Amino acid sequence: MALFGKNKKDNAAGAALAEEIVLPKHVGIIMDGNGRWAKNRGLPRKAGHREGAQVFRTITRYASEVGIRYLTVYAFSTENWKRPEDEVGALMGLFKSYLKEALEDFKDDDIVVRFIGEKSGFSPELQKLMTENEESSAYRDGMVLNIAMNYGSRDEIVRAVKSICADVKSGRIGESDISEQLFSDYLYTAGQPDPDLIIRPSGEYRISNFMLWQSAYTEFVIMNKLWPDFTKADFDEALRLYAQRNRRYGGV
Ligand code: FPP
Repeated sequence: MALFGKNKKDNAAGAALAEEIVLPKHVGIIMDGNGRWAKNRGLPRKAGHREGAQVFRTITRYASEVGIRYLTVYAFSTENWKRPEDEVGALMGLFKSYLKEALEDFKDDDIVVRFIGEKSGFSPELQKLMTENEESSAYRDGMVLNIAMNYGSRDEIVRAVKSICADVKSGRIGESDISEQLFSDYLYTAGQPDPDLIIRPSGEYRISNFMLWQSAYTEFVIMNKLWPDFTKADFDEALRLYAQRNRRYGGV
């Protein structure tokens, strides 16, 4: 059974919402609050991540059904390696099971899976699964799902600067070619529109090294819910709040 709808019309509620409000093309989600969710229940933090991974599946499918074109989820930052070994190990296990599941069970879905972040930080097995997921979904025409893993926006920017310097040095580009557009093309999100909306559950008012360059004109919705408690109705609410915003991009 296909987990993700073939198009937004597969889901009446999602399609109805798309007809009612102006949807963001690109949504980012900082999936925060797993640890607190577990702590509130006297459970180990990894139990929160397990629950969070289930919510990630539900919301990804729903975003695709609603008609979102690009969804970027922050799954593991360049700073998250500092967490206890047991917690990092549990997260790697969750990534592995999701990526295997996506390869084996989601063959008929239309989601394009992409990774943003430095793959080389992961085990050879995980790297292989990441590449296989990208390659096997590249031909699809549905929502692009960017999973940010070993991702840090400052790291992404430094890498872009180094690549630009190397290309100027080799003569591939000239210094005068450097522009905002060219810089964007050196980021992991090259070719994709900037996020229109970033949702952060768990009530924290922080960007946490997520899409710093890309979010120059992004609308933020902070929600007072921990990620494992986040529902489709919360996603709808964030979309409705976004639709009420008056985006001026520095103009009047
Ligand atoms: C932040 O919450 C969450 C993370 C560092 C991990 C997010 C990962 C998932 C939701 C699993 C995703 C799974 C797949 C398959 C992509 P936190 O631990 O910092 O929570 P806290 O602020 O309450 O401690």
